[in-house]
Amino acid sequence: MSRQILVTAALPYANGHIHIGHLVEYIQTDIWVRFQKLRGQRCIFVCADDTHGTAIMIRARREGRPEEVVIADMREAHIRDFAGFQIEFDNYGSTNSPENREWCERFWAIIRKAGLVKEKDVEQLYDPVAGTFLADRFVRGTCPKCGAEDQPGDNCSCCGAAYTPADLKNPKSTLSGAVPEIRTAEHLFIELEQLHEFLNEWTQDGTHLQPEVANYLKGHFLGEPLRDWDVSRPAPYFGFEIPDKPGHYWYVWFDAPIGYVASTLEWCKKTSGESLPNWWDAHSCAEIHHFIGKDIAYFHTLFWPGILKAVGFNLPKKVHVHGFLTVGGKKMSKTKGTFVMGSTFLKHLPPGALRYYYASKLGTGLDDIDLNLDEFVSRFNSDLVGKVVNLASRSAGFMAGQTLSDVYPDDGGLFAAAAEKGEQIAAYYEDCNYNAATREIMALADKANKFVDDRQPWVIRKDPARADELRDVCTITLNLFRQIVTYLAPVLPELVKQTAELLNRPIAHWSESQTPLTGTLVSPFQHLMKRIETKQVELMIEESKEVMAAEQAAVPAAPETPAPETPAAVVFHAADQWKDAGDALANEALAGECTIDDFAKIDLRVARVIEASHVQGANKLLQLTLSLGGGETRNVFAGIKAAYKPEDLVGRLVICVANLKPRQMKFGLSQGMVCASGSGGTEVFLLSPDTGSVPGQRVH
Ligand code: 2FM
Ligand code: ZN
Repeated sequence: MSRQILVTAALPYANGHIHIGHLVEYIQTDIWVRFQKLRGQRCIFVCADDTHGTAIMIRARREGRPEEVVIADMREAHIRDFAGFQIEFDNYGSTNSPENREWCERFWAIIRKAGLVKEKDVEQLYDPVAGTFLADRFVRGTCPKCGAEDQPGDNCSCCGAAYTPADLKNPKSTLSGAVPEIRTAEHLFIELEQLHEFLNEWTQDGTHLQPEVANYLKGHFLGEPLRDWDVSRPAPYFGFEIPDKPGHYWYVWFDAPIGYVASTLEWCKKTSGESLPNWWDAHSCAEIHHFIGKDIAYFHTLFWPGILKAVGFNLPKKVHVHGFLTVGGKKMSKTKGTFVMGSTFLKHLPPGALRYYYASKLGTGLDDIDLNLDEFVSRFNSDLVGKVVNLASRSAGFMAGQTLSDVYPDDGGLFAAAAEKGEQIAAYYEDCNYNAATREIMALADKANKFVDDRQPWVIRKDPARADELRDVCTITLNLFRQIVTYLAPVLPELVKQTAELLNRPIAHWSESQTPLTGTLVSPFQHLMKRIETKQVELMIEESKEVMAAEQAAVPAAPETPAPETPAAVVFHAADQWKDAGDALANEALAGECTIDDFAKIDLRVARVIEASHVQGANKLLQLTLSLGGGETRNVFAGIKAAYKPEDLVGRLVICVANLKPRQMKFGLSQGMVCASGSGGTEVFLLSPDTGSVPGQRVH
């Protein structure tokens, strides 16, 4: 009996183009869906554009076009980019659809009736220059939980905490750069605490979440009462107006996940015999699988299951969380050209190269994956061109117009041994452990190549008396090739099509890997894949620099032209727009010159605060235990009590002077120092390393 599986990937915002960072998730998900379909499961993949919110409203204002037109254009671009990377949705909807409105209203009515909604006055940040309330991502500042700087107003990209923009420290409007004012507005909240017990069980039962995610929720959120979730925004806001609260709109994060339901409904409407309850009813036997990035785990593992439970819907069977993309070990950079749009990539390189590279890097955990451009080139060339396609290149040409042997010849057990690996490879795909799957498959390709090296068909063909032997050797080689292509089918759909054409037999099911093909016609051989040249990558990077520079130049100055919220469209303000005052510098003159050798004596390290507490009898100090990784710790007394609460420090990364001579203090031995700026008292600002750094790394 086949499984019934509904798969979603996060809905991309309609205010930015798809870039290679987004593609980690869409490729990961598409591979999983193709794998399920190949295994004969009933599986559908739905997605949609995430169209609502302040970002779109501001963009539309800036461009002088209605929001509907802006989102329609972006939808077209998204669909084109996804198709270019062979990401195949069964339905691609929009959160601005009638279906989504209908289901938001239905969910809302149930949630209201269940007594989960309450109204509260909220002190909200207001941009006096842009004339609008500043919700979510239009305020940036310091995370109130971990202290990471330059974080958006709704959730922290470092520690994942969710909060309201008014909680941010040192907030700034990204629309105008103005310091926001606080104004009061009425908001509607969902009391998540009422669902606490359920969420404890659901998140901690060991089946729905990766262990890291479950532990993170337990450690960061579930140990205390869950905060009320603010789900409304006052006008002006681009979204759905709340029927029983005119002038107020559902916050984009309320209607976005309901977009999963609406997109399923659109698919049901166009598919005969289908109905929404068949997938989303609590009693349906459908498995729901969400694929998301770690930055939005909070929404998908607390809010969303909570809402689904409240409305009596089917709960996710699994939320698969992945890490971010770095390029060359660093965050994607617009100036360095590593912030590559999907469309730019496709101008220079084949989609299969990125699909295969990401597959070879993706494991079961939440670690970031790094795109190393040299490795990207060499892996494609050596694995796919050099090992896989090479099997066909070294045999198919000798067989064009002939048929494969009628009986599968003796191959010394090669095909059967590789067939036996099928279930293990399938289990790797099922667990999203594509890295292990591709390694296993490449080991099979090595064995198949050894067979060809040993049997040398190019030598056999020179002797007409060995024609039958040649046919047998090529039949074996082409079968081993086809078996490998079947195992790689979820990753490389184009290669599957080409192989089907070459051997005149479709590869529509995983079972094709279990039985050799005999007697079918071999078509004339055409090159299946070309090597990638480093030059192509260089050209892509150069073009990306130009694309990003042009984008930045095209954005007129604030305040009428605010920066949209997604990374694809972030505007970096020129220094002269900030008008930073000179007081801080004037108050403390620059120290005398030091040499690089002087600087090298100070060993600054990234460290994690693993414990923080007040110190009895000390009114300025907090006691911190810093981890440098690998069990190495430092006990540090830091004069930051007026600026930080101990509970807000635990977990965050800081920079510490790791080789400072230990100092005996009244309260104990201090073995280092944490770095901070500011004049003291409440004006102390701890330094934070950028995302991606880990404890123990030296600061150079
Ligand atoms: O973070 C994002 O890009 C959101 N647009 C994802 C929404 S996913 C879902 F909940 F709708
Ligand atoms: Zn944080």
